[in-house]
Amino acid sequence: MSYLRYRSLSQGIQVPVSLKSFCLLNVAPSAGSSIGLGNVLAKQLDRHGMRVLAACLTEKGAEDLKKETSSRLQTAIVDISDSQSVSSAVEWVTRIVGDAGLWGLVNNAGTIVPAAPIGWLKKEDYARVLNINLLGTVDVTLKLLPLVRRARGRIIIVSSILGRLSVFGGGYALSKFGLEAFGDSLRRELSSFGVKVSIVEPGAFKTSIISSPAFEGLAQIWKNLPAEIKESYGEQYYKKFAQTFQALADAGNSTFYKATDCMEHALTACHPWTRYSAGWDAKLYFIPLSYLPTCISDLLTSVYLPKPYRRVE
Ligand SMILES: NC(=O)c1ccc[n+]([C@@H]2O[C@H](COP(=O)([O-])OP(=O)(O)OC[C@H]3O[C@@H](n4cnc5c(N)ncnc54)[C@H](OP(=O)(O)O)[C@@H]3O)[C@@H](O)[C@H]2O)c1
Repeated sequence: MSYLRYRSLSQGIQVPVSLKSFCLLNVAPSAGSSIGLGNVLAKQLDRHGMRVLAACLTEKGAEDLKKETSSRLQTAIVDISDSQSVSSAVEWVTRIVGDAGLWGLVNNAGTIVPAAPIGWLKKEDYARVLNINLLGTVDVTLKLLPLVRRARGRIIIVSSILGRLSVFGGGYALSKFGLEAFGDSLRRELSSFGVKVSIVEPGAFKTSIISSPAFEGLAQIWKNLPAEIKESYGEQYYKKFAQTFQALADAGNSTFYKATDCMEHALTACHPWTRYSAGWDAKLYFIPLSYLPTCISDLLTSVYLPKPYRRVE
């Protein structure tokens, strides 16, 4: 009991400012109008005096971020699914941080596209998402580990509440379940080196990841399906699946700080939590649901999932 009290009180204690050195984040959205958690976090950490190294997928994303931040923030263009690009990024980080090492690594980059019922997808669809979300993150982390070990720093893995409970098809939940496993073994191994690893599990947030490109992708997949599959599932299935997706996006949280504050806490608290859940849906719905017996969670999720036209009654 007194240990729990100590843990709870010590959550507010931060590491000394001198330790808050360089942090590498996978961040900025390419389109000027879209906004993501990494982008918000980069600006937040920059405001709080940290030296942010922002790995952006596109020049446009990097330029937009630079316009809104201080001269401390530096950017590089990195595609985490391309090992060559990751290696170049590691050289860039090594040149900047030198002997100090890297205090923080926030693995935030990710994609959900394509997301669709499992029977509509191909192996390549899964490979695309796993290559970015899971293998890209593993690649970045392995290559930067020596620098993080040197700083006895922090590694933050941005998973998802769908890393606890898988409810629809596509590589997204698979990749997030994989990240949870990666984060757990990483935390256990690196604690002996003084490196702390935290996993952040956001619920639904209204960022570009759950906006229109994801829906457009679904419409394209439906259009290109073989006639037999379309008949088995039926048009109503497609429409309800798309509506459920849209409802999820509409219900998403707009208060991004609920997720970015978790990431900042994991980077700066003396005693960061091993797991953070962000958003009321994560805390009050998905996490409790993930602990219930499977027959109950199946029943509850079936309420909002569509039923195929040619089903067994
Ligand atoms: N929003 C949510 O509801 C939610 C819920 C749970 C977990 N998450 C997780 O939170 C993280 C941030 O997502 P977000 O919501 O902020 O959505 P987002 O704005 O789409 O952010 C994802 C970022 O990853 C970048 N990215 C995609 N592929 C990449 C690649 N190959 N290399 C480097 N960067 C790449 C994207 O760049 P472009 O924009 O240039 O494509 C984008 O900046 C993701 O890991 C996501 O899975 C989000």
